[in-house]
Amino acid sequence: MVDLRDSALLRACRGEPVPHTPVWFMRQAGRSLPEYRAARAGLGMLESCLRPDVVVEVTMQPVRRYGVDAAILFSDIVLPVKAAGVDLDIEPGVGPVVANPVRSAADVAALPQLDPAAVEPVAEAVRGLVGELGATPLIGFAGAPFTLASYLVEGGPSREHVRTKALMYGDEQTWHALADRLAQIALAFLRVQVDAGVSVVQLFDSWAGTLSADDYTRYVLPHSRTVLEGIRAHADVPRIHFGVGTGELLGLMAAAGADVIGVDWRVPLDEAAKRVPAGIPVQGNLDPAAVFAPWPVVAERARDVLRRGTAATGHVFNLGHGVLPDTDPDVLARLVELVHAESVTP
Ligand code: CP3
Repeated sequence: MVDLRDSALLRACRGEPVPHTPVWFMRQAGRSLPEYRAARAGLGMLESCLRPDVVVEVTMQPVRRYGVDAAILFSDIVLPVKAAGVDLDIEPGVGPVVANPVRSAADVAALPQLDPAAVEPVAEAVRGLVGELGATPLIGFAGAPFTLASYLVEGGPSREHVRTKALMYGDEQTWHALADRLAQIALAFLRVQVDAGVSVVQLFDSWAGTLSADDYTRYVLPHSRTVLEGIRAHADVPRIHFGVGTGELLGLMAAAGADVIGVDWRVPLDEAAKRVPAGIPVQGNLDPAAVFAPWPVVAERARDVLRRGTAATGHVFNLGHGVLPDTDPDVLARLVELVHAESVTP
């Protein structure tokens, strides 16, 4: 039987020597692949996430095509919120849209908890995937309380997060109640995934970079800690914590209880390694737009990421954010080859 704890990804997450730098891509399962569009034809995004056969197929596609060192579960950060009973949907080209935005103490009190039975199809998909993936680990994930709250309060995607911040700064008690509910939902969703067999979890706080360090510490960190420490208490799986534009927050995001810190493309990894406590590996951080440049430029930039990554205790190669929809899949395949070939220590 394969012991996934010896895989390159898990070794890197623990800061141990690796045969090669492990590589996977955020949003590797998805819009840039023609076979994804075929598998999704006629199915809504969230509907697909509750169809184990579709989840298994879509999760496997990038593993087959790219030879990445990890699969990431095909799902979405808002799925458990929907499964708990909140009226929301994902609109193509827009993102999550919430029918009745959450803005008052009464709205928060009415938020349901997640019954694990409501995401049983996800557990079934994870069990199927673990069997199919063999020696390749599966990454589970959830949205962090701030990023989830932003969708619920704004009612949809937002650039400035104005209503979310107005609630946070103006009615601290209601904010903490909301963030705690969402932490409980995220934690319950991750527990289901871990119990079904995922080997690593990533907590996405994609929009936390909109906050100052002081506000992050006061309003957000305690709730992300609830999720990350809740998983630590539940199982021995590495926890990756990621956000966009979070260069000023990397140390705090580690302090929230992460084993690995995801870094976007704005902070070089050698600098990022100085911003997190000693011994914490980093994940990242090629600019997702860089893969649109001619191959020699992509290769040189990838080499630079690898070089800088050696300054950290461990490095998981990734893009600095998700794969952009028009990305050429062949470039990603070449990138995986390069990372594998050129990260081998003599
Ligand atoms: O390969 C993977 O990474 C796994 C799949 C995955 C999806 N969503 C599938 C998806 C993951 C990890 C997510 C997480 C997610 N969802 C995040 C955090 C990651 C990040 O990029 O920062 C966020 C903020 C969301 C919310 C969300 N869902 C957005 C902003 C969108 C895009 C809307 C659009 O079409 O532009 C979605 C929809 C979504 N989630 C798609 C996929 C493949 C596109 C759906 C489609 O094919 O129509």
